Amino acid sequence: MIEPVLDYLKDNQARFVSELCDYVRFPSVSAQPAHKPDLEACAQWLKNHCDGIGLETRLCPTAGNPILIAKTPRTAGSKRPHFLVYGHYDVQPPEPFELWTTPPFEPRIEGRSLFGRGATDNKGQHMAHVNAVEAYLKSGAELPCDLTFLVEGEEEVGSKNLAVFLKANQAELMCDGIIISDNGIPAKKLPALTYALRGIIAFEVILHGPSRDLHSGIYGGAVDNPAMALSQMLAKLRDRNGRVTVPGFYDSVAKLSSYERKQLARLPYNETAFRKFMGVPRLFGEKGFTSVEQRTARPTCEINGLTSGYQGEGSKTIVPSWARAKLTFRLVPNQKPDQVKRLVVAYLRKICPPTVRLEVVAGHGGEPYIVSPESQQAQAALRALKLAFGHEPVLMREGGSIPIVNDFKKMLKADTLLLGLALPDDNAHSPNEKFDLDCFENGMRMSAYLWQELAAAK
Ligand code: BES
Ligand code: MN
Repeated sequence: MIEPVLDYLKDNQARFVSELCDYVRFPSVSAQPAHKPDLEACAQWLKNHCDGIGLETRLCPTAGNPILIAKTPRTAGSKRPHFLVYGHYDVQPPEPFELWTTPPFEPRIEGRSLFGRGATDNKGQHMAHVNAVEAYLKSGAELPCDLTFLVEGEEEVGSKNLAVFLKANQAELMCDGIIISDNGIPAKKLPALTYALRGIIAFEVILHGPSRDLHSGIYGGAVDNPAMALSQMLAKLRDRNGRVTVPGFYDSVAKLSSYERKQLARLPYNETAFRKFMGVPRLFGEKGFTSVEQRTARPTCEINGLTSGYQGEGSKTIVPSWARAKLTFRLVPNQKPDQVKRLVVAYLRKICPPTVRLEVVAGHGGEPYIVSPESQQAQAALRALKLAFGHEPVLMREGGSIPIVNDFKKMLKADTLLLGLALPDDNAHSPNEKFDLDCFENGMRMSAYLWQELAAAK
């Protein structure tokens, strides 16, 4: 019986929203070492919360931030299917602060939006599941599945310690499927099941020039400028048609089937609205592919950060001592991060002039993910989406990356259902991040239905 669960959810919405505000208040920024204590406090808050609703919890220390494990009470000899719900309590850096209407860690509600860093990515999204499970446990309705929540604190920095944790806890975490809400849907009235994510490989490229900043009038002309040299190298990574120019980069890219292209073309898309939303004078992208394909099913090369020389007010006439760029490549089936890494490093070495010294540090990586949307579990998820949102769901691919899904597949032998609750204007990773409270509510109901539908599908 699902009615008591749905009633409980309805009756407790205001409290759920205020608890989400408490959760968002922690500045759990995993990229910044100074926030380490905030990550621990945030994890502890979540543990206490899960204890309070009747889950069996433990905080597992790692070489980095702790991982929370919270399980529904098991009955001896249970034949119920076991699902893992994954989320992350760490958030992206909030900078630049001045672009936030109100401070990023002072959650604010305006209309149906809850503003704050981490609201949509990912605190609000996994709390929807926690709240749905609370509704089962507190209303006395029978939960037809055994559930384990795994909430980590290093997703935004590559989930390194989670892979280690999975290996060490493989037997306990073995499950029939993984549920993740850490992605988006096209619109409030268009719920979606995501069946593919792009992979990623990150680099830092540093060019070392003179041993110190030099007067550009006295020395400029006789010594190479690392900022200039780096710009010239970066300009050789991608052409004006949006093609990545690293030799061999496309060799293992799987061709999109005409069936899939037809499906992707059914997703709503308005070019003018899309362009205006982004605030660009004109769209850009690989020729021969639609915007949806470019963002979700084609690989890319992006500069994420670029630094060199004097950044302060006014001018300073120097030849900078160094220049540095942060790069990421998004990958699609069947590209392999390690292979792309080799291609990129070899190419950078080749195009680096002898007048500077190149240093390349490869960062985090993750394989692309793709799964059949036709499985019994996927069909169960589509039913739950329809029941909760009241609209026919669509199938989609996402351009973002959640590298751990491939480790789940390898180590737990289970597929992941990606059931995003974020809207395109949630500003994930941007200033004024928010989470939509209707999506929060629909998400809780979706989760409530999901356990019934998944148990019936087994
Ligand atoms: N929630 C995102 C991933 C995401 C966003 C998937 C939108 C699908 C659609 C996640 O928190 C994230 O930002 N991941 C990083 C991964 C990286 C740091 C390894 C990303 O995609 O940039
Ligand atoms: Mn993110």
